[in-house]
Amino acid sequence: MTFSPQAITEAAVASFAQCDNPRLKQLMQSLVRHLHAFAQETQLTEAEWMAGIQFLTATGQKCDDVRQEFILLSDTLGLSMLLVAMHDGAQHGATEATVLGPFHTPDAPALANGSDLSNGAPGEPLYVSGRVLSAEGKPLSHAKIDIWQADAEGLYDVQRSELETQRRARGIIETDAQGCFAFWSVLPEAYPVPTDGPVGQMLLSSARHPWRPAHIHFLIESAGHQPLVTHIFREGDQYLDSDVVFGVRPSLVGQFAQHAAGTAPDGRQLSQPYWTMAYEFSMQAS
Ligand code: BEZ
Ligand code: FE
Repeated sequence: MTFSPQAITEAAVASFAQCDNPRLKQLMQSLVRHLHAFAQETQLTEAEWMAGIQFLTATGQKCDDVRQEFILLSDTLGLSMLLVAMHDGAQHGATEATVLGPFHTPDAPALANGSDLSNGAPGEPLYVSGRVLSAEGKPLSHAKIDIWQADAEGLYDVQRSELETQRRARGIIETDAQGCFAFWSVLPEAYPVPTDGPVGQMLLSSARHPWRPAHIHFLIESAGHQPLVTHIFREGDQYLDSDVVFGVRPSLVGQFAQHAAGTAPDGRQLSQPYWTMAYEFSMQAS
């Protein structure tokens, strides 16, 4: 009896028929169908699949408590951003979401609205201000805004071994009664995603660059609303059209204005040039 490729696919799909979790059954059967279709479409050889298995093994071996190479793989294949876009509430008037990324930490310092969260991070001073609103435009007071970003050298605090547990260019602030917020930080710069692992090799072998355009991360939470995970990107960045993780959405490009030394909008005196950026976030009701 011959076992045709089609019969093998059908047998593998049918092997999940008794699964009593309907969602798991659907996911596994669809995964088998698509994997088999991929092998058929590309006429995948056994040697190529062995190389694929070695790549996935190396990806797992690169992971530890702070490094998640599989998430980086998902990000660089566009899967993370696809899921964000598929489940985003932005079609209802809310600010668009983008990827969380690997550099959020649960221990950012809680700071007063208007604070400087740079804490010694290198870079030109940047004053960020704005409001958090409902999708209908109502100001949201006491919204919690978790902020994190890379510095002028394109590094997050957690990538600097010398800082150990010190946190800089990150912090959590709350909006005031009018939904307003402000903070000082440093001008973010573009940076490459980690390239010292198998995902970096994959990018190199595929003639892809590893860069993300400069951005600031925001995770905003407000009672009665869905958490918003997003970035504001720096306009004019050379990588806006080729973000390695496909996270850019035009509505998330902010206007960064440069100013000569002098008095900033909050009255702070600056002896060096500084930047300002204002943005209004709209939250999707839950
Ligand atoms: C980030 O923006 O921090 C990031 C997102 C995806 C992969 C690597 C970094
Ligand atoms: Fe980032």
